[in-house]
Amino acid sequence: MDFRQVYEQYQHDLQEIDNILGTSMESENALLAGSSRQLLAAGGKRIRPLFALLCSELGKMSEKQSVHRLAASVELVHMASLVHDDVIDDATVRRGHPTVRAQYGNRPAMYTGDFLFARAIRLLSSLSNMSLHVEMSNAIVRMTEGEIDQIRDFYDLGQPLKKYLRRIERKTALLISVSCSLGAVVGGAPAAAVKAARRFGYFTGMAFQVIDDILDFSGTESLVGKPVGNDLWQGNITYPALYTAQCTAQGAQLRNLVSPTMTRDDLNAAVALVRESGALEQANQLASRYLDKALVILRGLDESSTRRSLEVVARFVNQRMF
Ligand code: IPE
Ligand code: IPE
Ligand code: MG
Ligand code: MG
Ligand code: MG
Repeated sequence: MDFRQVYEQYQHDLQEIDNILGTSMESENALLAGSSRQLLAAGGKRIRPLFALLCSELGKMSEKQSVHRLAASVELVHMASLVHDDVIDDATVRRGHPTVRAQYGNRPAMYTGDFLFARAIRLLSSLSNMSLHVEMSNAIVRMTEGEIDQIRDFYDLGQPLKKYLRRIERKTALLISVSCSLGAVVGGAPAAAVKAARRFGYFTGMAFQVIDDILDFSGTESLVGKPVGNDLWQGNITYPALYTAQCTAQGAQLRNLVSPTMTRDDLNAAVALVRESGALEQANQLASRYLDKALVILRGLDESSTRRSLEVVARFVNQRMF
């Protein structure tokens, strides 16, 4: 079984979630409704809703409507963070289409992000379990902390690996972790399964961001649907750059190139250095170690088709090209 088959198996649920997303984005304000709907229509992997759906099956409660609402609210939080992220990262393309900021400007984009956050809260509030709200709120707070730390650590090629790992935990892994744990909670899973889902999502989420950071060096805009080379251009030092700077023969050259005054030529040379340094292979190994940790957690769950699907999706995270 590959990840496409998992998506196919859940296509009715994912369609229902998209319907909820569409309804959630309705607004009398044409800009808010238009910009949000465009991002929705552009696609995206919907991997967080998929994890929520799958993990809900760790419980015996088949109250599908609640699971769909939860999954849609996680995707709304994710989409809000993307709209804001593209302002922060000066990004022009997202999901293969112009970003909200490219099309409408930075200020409307900030409000579009706020709108999506607000609609996520409204949707989540239809679920009565208080722990959902606390856990989601904590993940969003962590996400903002991760993004702020990223700005603090811009251009610092000497930073310890720990700082990078803490940033990606906050900005990405915790929301993926929450998609899994809250899915399990809404599905009525026992406490041990909720904990396993949380930990599985955490490790998968760490791998997810490491791969995203690799794709920024190795991918093409047409394939990943967003600009590449942008992390270094912004001064965002991810694992491939960090490893090149600190552990390879290309380190000194890279340190000479990367600075707030670097030119596009400097950037291209720096990206080429990272690619030839062997850092991308090292980064892949880092992602594999996180995947292995996620798979160990899965093995602690009873064998089931859900467990097999979770494994397929986690493996896809590490092999993806987009
Ligand atoms: C992009 O997330 C932002 C990160 C946390 C790396 P995705 O790669 O899940 O984006 P979409 O939803 O598929 O567009
Ligand atoms: C994603 O980080 C962080 C978010 C919380 C949205 P990136 O800045 O690497 O995400 P992409 O690569 O633009 O999707
Ligand atoms: Mg960013
Ligand atoms: Mg970005
Ligand atoms: Mg990225």
